[in-house]
Amino acid sequence: MGLVKHIENKIVRPALRWARPAKCVTLGGITIQYKAELDGGGIEFGQDFIPFLRSRRMPKQQRAFEWCSGPAFIGFSLLGNGLCETLCLADINPAAVASCRNTVRLNGLEDRVSVYHSNNLRSIPESERWSLVVSNPPHFIDQYEGDIRAHDPGWNIHREFFSTVPKYLEDDGVIVLQENNRGSTVETFRDMIERAGLEIAFTYGDSKTLTAKSEFFFIGIVKKGATVPEWAK
Ligand SMILES: C[S@@+](CC[C@H](N)C(=O)[O-])C[C@H]1O[C@@H](n2cnc3c(N)ncnc32)[C@H](O)[C@@H]1O
Repeated sequence: MGLVKHIENKIVRPALRWARPAKCVTLGGITIQYKAELDGGGIEFGQDFIPFLRSRRMPKQQRAFEWCSGPAFIGFSLLGNGLCETLCLADINPAAVASCRNTVRLNGLEDRVSVYHSNNLRSIPESERWSLVVSNPPHFIDQYEGDIRAHDPGWNIHREFFSTVPKYLEDDGVIVLQENNRGSTVETFRDMIERAGLEIAFTYGDSKTLTAKSEFFFIGIVKKGATVPEWAK
């Protein structure tokens, strides 16, 4: 990297990001202050989780987890819209974690929301149990290198998640991931899911082949052989 590019990427851009004022959005009555660079689409297509889970008549879940939460637009929206009783959040980016903690404080949610700074699930206490896991994780293996919002090198973030999530998932718990058909298809993940002792319960809105433009789809995943809740069949 040339000196000018280095100064631009390492000093000027971070300083501009820091100086940029926070944005504010209210989802399901919960006010979230966040910096634009933390938004990975959760405020836009991520909100499709709400009508989607409602259309499947998902009952209120005891405890939901948002994996790769960023500022947790999806998780706080689930909570605010009455789709879960309590919420667990985690992200690798300390700025995203600080944003989640600020939202908890602002809205007086200390008794209902836990926030962890964690690389994948590595720093999540073993005592956590989730009936629902949602996520809009990084969507691309071969693009956006260096952008932790978008790049999953070798699909290793997904692979590690699938292999470590079963111990946190209730026996009838359901994982619902929102993926991007421009970066993956259902088949991209099937083998990693099955090797982890999980299985696909449903898919929605996916194409069999990669698409030229971003199109989002849902994959519902359960423990292999589990009694699948009605709403996830
Ligand atoms: C597509 S963004 C989604 C952010 C937010 N959920 C949204 O919908 O706007 C992906 C998120 O994954 C986080 N992430 C990337 N690698 C991670 C890892 N190894 N462990 C935990 N979080 C990770 C990023 O920091 C980023 O917040």
